[in-house]
Amino acid sequence: MLSGIQPSGDLHLGNYLGAIKNWGSRAEEFDCYYFMADLHTITVRQVPADLRRRTLEQLAQYIACGLDPEKNTLFIQSHVPAHAELGWILNCYTMFGELSRMTQFKDKAAKHADNVNGGLFTYPSLMAADILLYQPDLVPVGHDQKQHVELTRNVAQRFNHIYGDVFKVPEPYIPKTGARVMSLNAPDSKMSKSMPEGCVFLMEKPEDIQRKFKRAITDSDTERCVRYDPEHKPGVANLMSIYSAVTGQSYEQIEAEFDGCGYGQFKPRVGEAVIEHLRPIREEASRILADKAYLESVYKSGAEKASYTANKTLRKVYKKIGLVAR
Ligand code: TYM
Repeated sequence: MLSGIQPSGDLHLGNYLGAIKNWGSRAEEFDCYYFMADLHTITVRQVPADLRRRTLEQLAQYIACGLDPEKNTLFIQSHVPAHAELGWILNCYTMFGELSRMTQFKDKAAKHADNVNGGLFTYPSLMAADILLYQPDLVPVGHDQKQHVELTRNVAQRFNHIYGDVFKVPEPYIPKTGARVMSLNAPDSKMSKSMPEGCVFLMEKPEDIQRKFKRAITDSDTERCVRYDPEHKPGVANLMSIYSAVTGQSYEQIEAEFDGCGYGQFKPRVGEAVIEHLRPIREEASRILADKAYLESVYKSGAEKASYTANKTLRKVYKKIGLVAR
């Protein structure tokens, strides 16, 4: 299994429920690689010191979320040059039309109209390289990354069709609940750091988290009851799916628990459940972050292990396409 997150902002509940929480779930069955996608973040301008700080914070948070570095290979993308190398090669096997159809590109190009750079456009080829280098079976991501994983599959199949079986064609692995966590104050948009009032960050103070849940948009339905109906009650459905993901309860159980309760009781209870779920993660991440030597040992050995696997694939690709062996 392999996945990554861009250290372009602080990790939030969407990243956690949509991705990280799912990463550890099959660690016994799979060889797992998880990384900080720092090369991807520079497709949008970053403050260098913030990028460096957030990359290490993200690593501490991965570990605090339960990814044991002894059982998972945790690394920084830029420390494994094979990503950039295969990224270039796959650019030459990814079509302009395919890249033009990517919704993340369209969204980001609209949001950063003054900086629609080449990297933003070819971002999915680098992501395909991130994945294919490790020959994973599964790529655990939230719903919004499914299109990129599908493009990766197409690129792998195109390449294999020309050169024989070089890449394993991976499957996206999307959780049943939490794959699309919506903004608390705009339930028609996905939760994202660019809308901080509707976004719950993993390291946020409990009182700030509770304030955001209390202010969460529900609906103006006259029937103000807790019922799972994403079409008519998207805000309530979003809160229910968050509650379900952190407590493990089904929607029927949640409906029964809040039977007869108004939103005034429901919202702070969801807030409390999230706070309690995140509390050990926050405490553990702060503790790990203070130990810089430990973090350095994790990312150094992670890069070494990742490079070993990645370079095997890269050598095979070089040979297949006709580059002279180094
Ligand atoms: P990124 O950094 O935007 O998001 C990281 C992960 O969090 C998930 N996610 C969400 N899930 C549910 N609800 C939300 N509101 C929400 N917001 C984010 C994303 O689906 C993702 O799984 N291109 C990737 C990073 C990447 C990558 C890779 C992923 C680079 N290379 C290789 C997998 C494999 C991205 O921008 O994710």
